[in-house]
Amino acid sequence: MEKGKLARMQHMAVEVSDTDRSIAFYRDVLGFKLTERHPANENPNIPVELTFMRLGNKHHELVLVNNPKKTYVPRPKRPEDDLEGIPAFHHFAFECDSKEDWETVLEKVEEKKVEIVRGPVLHSFVDPRGDGSWGENEAFYLLDPDNHRIEIFCNLSTIDTDGTHVNFEGVRMEGTKTEEL
Ligand SMILES: [Fe+2]
Repeated sequence: MEKGKLARMQHMAVEVSDTDRSIAFYRDVLGFKLTERHPANENPNIPVELTFMRLGNKHHELVLVNNPKKTYVPRPKRPEDDLEGIPAFHHFAFECDSKEDWETVLEKVEEKKVEIVRGPVLHSFVDPRGDGSWGENEAFYLLDPDNHRIEIFCNLSTIDTDGTHVNFEGVRMEGTKTEEL
């Protein structure tokens, strides 16, 4: 592996207004497990409650952050063409290893009566079934209890050595290009 290079993007820490409610959501709807939960000021350097959740054997992929002294106001469901506000993050995404897994998660989300705010959709401008966007991945979107936007996806394309995108079946998407190799 190339030295001195970041290996991968990993966990996300999101602020939540009700830790119990968010633990239940990420556990029951998305299959996370609770690793550990620590109240605010348990460690004198950390004035917030931290809850670590995981999907596999790494300590966490998700951190729920709650400040018990903070007065939380509801986070608005921001439209994509919002005209004013802080530069908040747009969405974060969780990957399934296969289309079958992705469909199972989709069924579970529907079973739990959680609203799907976009999709299911194929992000492709090559495939005729696509929505004209990029990445070749199949995706759907939901909101967590604080209206953080979450994408669940599978089959994201990879980048060949010449910059051509390759879909999950190994098919080169001729005509695609990559800005930097
Ligand atoms: Fe995305």
